[in-house]
Amino acid sequence: MDKRQLVSIATEARDLSYSPYSHFAVGAAVLCNDGTVFCGANVENSSYGLCMCAERNALYNALMHGKSSEDFEALAVVADTDAPVSPCGACRQVLSELFPSQKPIYLANLEGNIQETNVEELLPFAFSGDDL
Ligand code: THU
Repeated sequence: MDKRQLVSIATEARDLSYSPYSHFAVGAAVLCNDGTVFCGANVENSSYGLCMCAERNALYNALMHGKSSEDFEALAVVADTDAPVSPCGACRQVLSELFPSQKPIYLANLEGNIQETNVEELLPFAFSGDDL
């Protein structure tokens, strides 16, 4: 599967976003090495601190289907932004624990702009379980 196909699946997932407070819908899709894809969208709450981002929902969805870091090949994230959407700090921390550090992460917008990056670039000098 190429990056445009994965972004397209993330864009479909974005339609499932529950974002009545920010009106900022985000979709994400994780591709696994067996070809399966797990999606997520952001889910908000009137108690704002409980909002969950699309990237984390996609990763947790994959984990709940028995997948783990060694299964992950790529991640796509998409939102209606001018430039490709940038993951929040909380998602970067979660990605640094659950997603392979050098596998591609495709940041995209609805205009079809895609920026490729990875966890090492998104969160250098990360805090990890090794520090505990
Ligand atoms: N959001 C995501 O889902 N992913 C990001 O990378 C950035 C932010 C969500 C959280 C919240 O529901 C809305 O976008 C506005 O911050």
